[in-house]
Amino acid sequence: MNDSIDKQFKILTYGCQMNVHDSEILAGMLGQLGYRESLNEDDADIILINTCSIRDKAEQKVFGKVGALKKLKAKKPELIIGICGCMIQQQQVAKRIQKDFPHVDLLFGTHNIHQLPQMIEKVLAKKERVLEIWNEEGEVIEGLPKLREDGITAWITITYGCNNFCTYCIVPHVRGRERSRQPSDIISEIEDIVAKGYKEVTLLGQNVNSYGKDFDNEYDFADLLCEVSKIKELKRVRYMTPHPRDFTDKLIDVIASHDKICNHFHLPVQSGSSRVLKSMNRGYDQQKYLSLIDKIKNKVNDFSITTDIIVGFPGETEKDFLETIKVVEAVKYDSAFTFAYSPRQGTPASKMEVQVPQQEKSQRLQRLIETQNNISKQINDSYVGQVWDVLVEGTSKNDPSYISGRTKTAKIVNFAGDKTLIGKEVKVKITDSQTWSLTGKILEEE
Ligand code: SAH
Ligand code: SF4
Ligand code: F3S
Repeated sequence: MNDSIDKQFKILTYGCQMNVHDSEILAGMLGQLGYRESLNEDDADIILINTCSIRDKAEQKVFGKVGALKKLKAKKPELIIGICGCMIQQQQVAKRIQKDFPHVDLLFGTHNIHQLPQMIEKVLAKKERVLEIWNEEGEVIEGLPKLREDGITAWITITYGCNNFCTYCIVPHVRGRERSRQPSDIISEIEDIVAKGYKEVTLLGQNVNSYGKDFDNEYDFADLLCEVSKIKELKRVRYMTPHPRDFTDKLIDVIASHDKICNHFHLPVQSGSSRVLKSMNRGYDQQKYLSLIDKIKNKVNDFSITTDIIVGFPGETEKDFLETIKVVEAVKYDSAFTFAYSPRQGTPASKMEVQVPQQEKSQRLQRLIETQNNISKQINDSYVGQVWDVLVEGTSKNDPSYISGRTKTAKIVNFAGDKTLIGKEVKVKITDSQTWSLTGKILEEE
């Protein structure tokens, strides 16, 4: 610990919750080095950019940002600029950054973030660029410091990496093979954050329900959920992201029978066409996916279902796309993250022969979004008049005189109420609905 320096850091995070969580660890380590968090980039002595490579757009944003920091570095040469995260794990991208952005002092990937203190030391000592990229993941490292955002809900990583190799996806290439944390480490981390006042956890992994497959016993994701939900002061348990292929009956039963485990099912379908699903290497077809949805609908009360969908995967025809629309209409998703396929270098799909033209992808995306938005609005309309338990998370983003929280089905509800209710579960009558959120009136406090 070094309290003698008065230096500031700023971390810019792109991408998914994995990166958000890694940034919390980077911030924790910087805190231990004596740095404090800066409100803006201009005052920072070190700026870290934690990058995402899931789609081309995500990468372009980062290139734009790194380019823009050149001016600041010119004004303030002692500023350390570091780039880390998923983009750096791709050789060709790391090379491009090295070549095109000489004002970057430090480059490191996803596998060695724990080495940040030594890397900073090297930059300061040598006054030259430091590049530390591991090609392979190491063991799971426990006990790293974390600087979490204050709040009601905390992210807890349960698995790192992914073994699925969906043919479009860069994640397994930049995050390494799947590794599960030990249940005891997860439970003690949650007990610790609950003692600090957090009320809800979201268990994180690229494929949470394959948790434990690397253990030499039978302990699985359903067992972990049961154990986590026994933690007394914890109000709600969420998880992100489950894979439809690994969603067992045991898991559905555990979710249905434990009140604290939220009835929100995020089940990325990616495509409705069995032919495309096979080519994506998703491990299920349309019929299997729909029968999983039926099982959930039959066993669980008051559920919500959301999804991720890619349009314009190589070889996707109009007929395949209509299968996707058919599934969207059959499942009636509460909401969907929708994407146009973006070729990622090094993935099998990027080498597939029949790529769908950009214009076709955009048109399909537009049609899909329209279909989904109508369904989202219809479902939200059906909430009007109902009473839901809402865990208050903070003030409303759009109107700071309102407070805001979520139902167990992950619907955002905004309503008039006192800020002292933050962290409490309250009963709210839904009075109005929008496509993305609900408005309500508080009935009673817990
Ligand atoms: N592990 C999670 C999330 C992966 S990334 C899962 O398996 O669901 C989040 C979403 O980005 C994916 O679900 C997919 O819909 C989308 N995605 C991934 N690679 C993509 C690509 N190359 N082009 C467009 N969308 C992509
Ligand atoms: Fe990517 Fe598939 Fe792994 Fe999700 S499950 S991270 S989409 S390879
Ligand atoms: Fe992006 Fe890496 Fe997450 S590629 S989506 S930040 S795992």
